[in-house]
Amino acid sequence: MHKSVLLNECIKYLNIDENSIIVDCTLGYGGHSGEILKRLDNGHLYSFDQDMDAIKYSDEYLKKISNNYTIIKSNFVNIKEKLSDYNVTSVDGILYDLGVSSPQLDEADRGFSFHKDAALDMRMDKTQKLTANYVVNNYTYEELVDIFYKYGEEKYSNSIAKGIINNRPINTTLQLVDVIRNNVPSKYAREKHPARKIFQAIRIEVNDELNVFEKSLYDSLSLLNVGGRLCVITFHSLEDKICKKIFKEVTEVKNELKNLPIIPDEYKPNYKIVKVLQPTQEEISTNPRSRSAKLRVIERVK
Ligand SMILES: C[S@@+](CC[C@H](N)C(=O)[O-])C[C@H]1O[C@@H](n2cnc3c(N)ncnc32)[C@H](O)[C@@H]1O
Repeated sequence: MHKSVLLNECIKYLNIDENSIIVDCTLGYGGHSGEILKRLDNGHLYSFDQDMDAIKYSDEYLKKISNNYTIIKSNFVNIKEKLSDYNVTSVDGILYDLGVSSPQLDEADRGFSFHKDAALDMRMDKTQKLTANYVVNNYTYEELVDIFYKYGEEKYSNSIAKGIINNRPINTTLQLVDVIRNNVPSKYAREKHPARKIFQAIRIEVNDELNVFEKSLYDSLSLLNVGGRLCVITFHSLEDKICKKIFKEVTEVKNELKNLPIIPDEYKPNYKIVKVLQPTQEEISTNPRSRSAKLRVIERVK
């Protein structure tokens, strides 16, 4: 089952009151959405997910709590358009708990796990066209090297890409793991699982994870009411870098104005950083998936 990460912290920093309008961009198995919903007597929760399995499960769970919610089956990159379909143009809180859920990882046939044999898939949205199989069997050597460096930060990107090209067709996750293992030094393969970074890279490519997150984050910031908060949980440095960069950009006075003795109100930033935190040792010991998590919280101040 999926154990929600940094659950109490998100609830605390979202500052929910009974009338709040809250958006959960990553419904998953409903852990965060459920706790949010319990606090909304007159407010409303809009929860996004692109995975129908997650939506079916969470709908059953949420309806036992209350009716004050709407599930939107969509990529969160469409947050603005989809909310405007419900005449929602501003909200009081937004949450992202990025990445895949434990059930997505555990279900072998989704092809996310390098421990379980499955067809190469890795789509969060099973109706999407691009699959891991297409990436592995059709991308050029240069394209593979590029995504392995960029999205996996894998130092053996070149030799792994060459191995993939020489062993095509590669149809299953464990076939791919073998190719990776055979194309890195054996000492390296013994240190950490050698497929970890390559699977991350292919998953990011298949779901276009970094680009959709970046675009959506700007839209989410613009949807916040004054006093509204946005919480983002990231699980690796590439996601966190994007979040940190955008939060910095919107909370700092522009460089060219920094030296003014008094900053006019209209040039002061519209947002302020509220908190950056990581799970406690206690949470990490009961939920190892939280190990690499980081929560960033920002608030709209004007
Ligand atoms: C880590 S899980 C969320 C878990 C959830 N907070 C809970 O407590 O159960 C991430 C979920 O977000 C979904 N997801 C990831 N990226 C998405 C995107 N760009 N658009 C919509 N859903 C996305 C995944 O399908 C997955 O179900």
